Amino acid sequence: MPISIAVCCLLSVVGVDPVPPSYDKEIDPLMRKYCATCHGKRMPRASISVITYEGLMKSKKGKALVVPGQPDKSPLLRTMEGHEPIMPPKFATLQPTKQEIARVRAWIAAGAKDDTPTD
Ligand code: HEC
Repeated sequence: MPISIAVCCLLSVVGVDPVPPSYDKEIDPLMRKYCATCHGKRMPRASISVITYEGLMKSKKGKALVVPGQPDKSPLLRTMEGHEPIMPPKFATLQPTKQEIARVRAWIAAGAKDDTPTD
């Protein structure tokens, strides 16, 4: 394997990315795809909604789901990385890939910015 491809794969696995993922273009679509069935508008399980930026930042019983710059303190990511309660639950048909989870980690690490256009 050429060295550049090897380095590229390695970087994506550890979640180091020179260009932080866009909330609007990447993270929000991921949340809608994998989490909206249970944490959307119609069925806010555990009374949290992860399909809006406000929902991600709003505290759940006193704790934020996303702590900007601190992926390891963000319950949103911890559940996706295998801490209880594991999210999406194992029985859910749609499961995010390691790469997609790494993108969520990279977004939080880069400050969890909201880049949704306002107009
Ligand atoms: C099949 C339904 C379902 C799907 C899909 C799902 N969840 Fe959940 N989620 C639940 C339920 C039910 C709970 C409450 C479970 C509990 O507290 O044991 C929960 C709880 C949570 C919590 C709160 C954990 C805590 O510390 O109390 C977070 C954060 C969460 N989900 C994130 C996500 C994310 C992110 C996704 C998508 C990647 C997702 N969920 C997909 C059903 C789902």
